[in-house]
Amino acid sequence: MERFWICGGKKLCGEVQVHGAKNAILPLLAAALLTDEQVYFEDVPDLCDIRSMMEILRHLGCRAERESGGILVESAGMDGCDMPDKQCKQIRSSIFLLGPLLAKLRCAKVPCPGGCEIGLRPIDLHLKGLRMLGVHIQDVEGKLVCRGENMHAGNVYLDYPSVGATENVIMASVLLPGTTVIHNAAREPEIVDLCRFINRMGGRIRGSGSQVIRIDGVKRLYGVTYKAIPDRIVAGTLLCAGAVTGGQVRIRDAQFSNLLPVIDKLTEMGCDIKREKGGLILRAPGRLCAFSNLQTSPHPGFPTDMQSQMLTLATVADGCSMITENVFESRYATAGDLLRMGADIRIAGRTAVVRGVEKLTGANVRARDLRGGAALVLAALCARGESTVTNISLIDRGYDKMECMLASLGAQIKRISDFREEHIHADP
Ligand code: UD1
Repeated sequence: MERFWICGGKKLCGEVQVHGAKNAILPLLAAALLTDEQVYFEDVPDLCDIRSMMEILRHLGCRAERESGGILVESAGMDGCDMPDKQCKQIRSSIFLLGPLLAKLRCAKVPCPGGCEIGLRPIDLHLKGLRMLGVHIQDVEGKLVCRGENMHAGNVYLDYPSVGATENVIMASVLLPGTTVIHNAAREPEIVDLCRFINRMGGRIRGSGSQVIRIDGVKRLYGVTYKAIPDRIVAGTLLCAGAVTGGQVRIRDAQFSNLLPVIDKLTEMGCDIKREKGGLILRAPGRLCAFSNLQTSPHPGFPTDMQSQMLTLATVADGCSMITENVFESRYATAGDLLRMGADIRIAGRTAVVRGVEKLTGANVRARDLRGGAALVLAALCARGESTVTNISLIDRGYDKMECMLASLGAQIKRISDFREEHIHADP
């Protein structure tokens, strides 16, 4: 039971570094199973989703260890394709293991995956893609039993450019003889990173970053050392922290091209953002202006993982902003807490209309999902007075010691372990 205590009103100033992207590293860890040789990932943040993924790899008989800031994976000893219920229910990304397990062992047994409660999050597209490669899939007592004896290269059309489904089909097809073509593939930077990694291991993938990805099957892949792309959502959240507090922050290793939709909106709100030696620098105005219309959509559209943070910014911006969430159906869970802090938000279906108020007021609020939790921290940073954000284990899923990053920029924030709260809940 931990929470953040935050005293708002401090302008954030200074410099902070972003590390490897969680959403890149999770599929990379799965893809490391495609070779028997050692793979080393550099600069991997210590996040619980990454720890859960490493536990699953170890359960399958692989080596997965932390070593000098990175992670070493070796799958030569992999001796099972039955994935553990507990960890798979904790992280949705466990579903990424379907593709590599099928590629390597021609079988995979996986319980239905878990993850943040931000919508229905079905896995039908993953299964459709794998079926198009000849995988036989059955639901046996709540577990998906996938058999790949008859797997073959082929044409896969995704009805929607799902990030996870694209990654799964890529990993399932890398070792199949012949050419697999994915149509309507996702174009996220994390997909490009996965393909770059597999190609470095000896794979032959063309077209990543476009809607058509071609995978020429190879006989085997080799061990490499690899560094994932910097986390664009952590970088975007830090830019928002600078913006909402009227500060000036430099984010080392933030990639301009991967953050364009966020930079565009922050610029519309009055921020000045420049590329500077290996990073970005943001200078915020005294008060942010409202943005006219923000619509989330698959890359290169506005990332849904930055929507909650922008909702917070809109609550204190001058004027009326409108947000439409097109990717996940339940991603306004944070709005209730923002209302308690004095925000003016009206939600109808997928659209939120936000009238900016001069100041939010500190309150006790609760993280409901990963990015929504980060959005509440942003709200507390700019609010008048003190706030606490509870349920921060959700925030820890995507931000490695968020309080340290923000404190290094001058924020008044502390992590508090409150055992009393646990007792209160335990008492009947
Ligand atoms: C990934 C990211 C997540 C991000 C999301 C969208 C990781 C670990 N997570 O999640 O942070 O928010 O991309 O950018 O990389 N869908 C289906 N059927 C499927 C798969 C998806 O209907 O089989 C729907 C989802 O419910 C959702 C939409 O497609 O509405 C997008 O999902 P998807 O692109 O698959 O996201 P994830 O890979 O789960």
